[in-house]
Amino acid sequence: MPAKCSSDTLPTDPSMSPSEPAPTHRPAPLHARGALAGIDATHRLAALIATCLTPGFRLYLSGDLGMGKTTLVRELLRALGHRGRVASPTYTLIEPYNLSRFDLHHYDFYRLTHPSAWRDAGFEDAFDSQTVVVVEWPEHAGDGFPAPDLRLWISADPGEAEDARRLSATAFSKRGQACLTALHDAGSCATVLLPDWGYEAR
Ligand SMILES: Nc1ncnc2c1ncn2[C@@H]1O[C@H](COP(=O)(O)OP(=O)(O)O)[C@@H](O)[C@H]1O
Ligand SMILES: [Mg+2]
Repeated sequence: MPAKCSSDTLPTDPSMSPSEPAPTHRPAPLHARGALAGIDATHRLAALIATCLTPGFRLYLSGDLGMGKTTLVRELLRALGHRGRVASPTYTLIEPYNLSRFDLHHYDFYRLTHPSAWRDAGFEDAFDSQTVVVVEWPEHAGDGFPAPDLRLWISADPGEAEDARRLSATAFSKRGQACLTALHDAGSCATVLLPDWGYEAR
């Protein structure tokens, strides 16, 4: 089943609450929401996102345990040509991949001991480089964490099948917007322009 989409209200996320109004030079974040009817829809979404990634792209994934963040990353890596095992970085915090087009770092900050521990661990360099970074649980990294290009929230879809998920996405940069627009054009999600949510410009 393809992903169904609509474009109504935003998800509630305290770490993403509105702050100052956006400077005029900053692209307004673009938001989309939709439904993933099952795991195949998650796999298709991952394959589409893989086509958007360019060196330095930051993709952040939020959602409760078991919602499919790591599953999406596994499929993303497969679509990017990785053929080996994809271990969850739940305990290691990072799993690095040397892909043909770029290096990709997969982080999981669920077990981050304090908000700046990602910096103490020396991860900061990858966030200002040609490395693609994919981060599960970015909210655990606190306020000083760099802005993403694209952030996804995956949640359960009550009343639907057990493997159905709700998807919300917000783009914070031009290339994030281009990716979200590509998802829209592929029939994955409706998009709607929204006011800035306080992330720094890139
Ligand atoms: N629509 C779906 N999208 C992603 N995973 C799904 C979906 N439906 C069921 N699943 C299952 O849910 C589990 C998600 O696990 P995982 O990807 O590790 O979650 P997370 O990283 O969010 O904690 C997997 O066992 C996966 O097969
Ligand atoms: Mg995970």
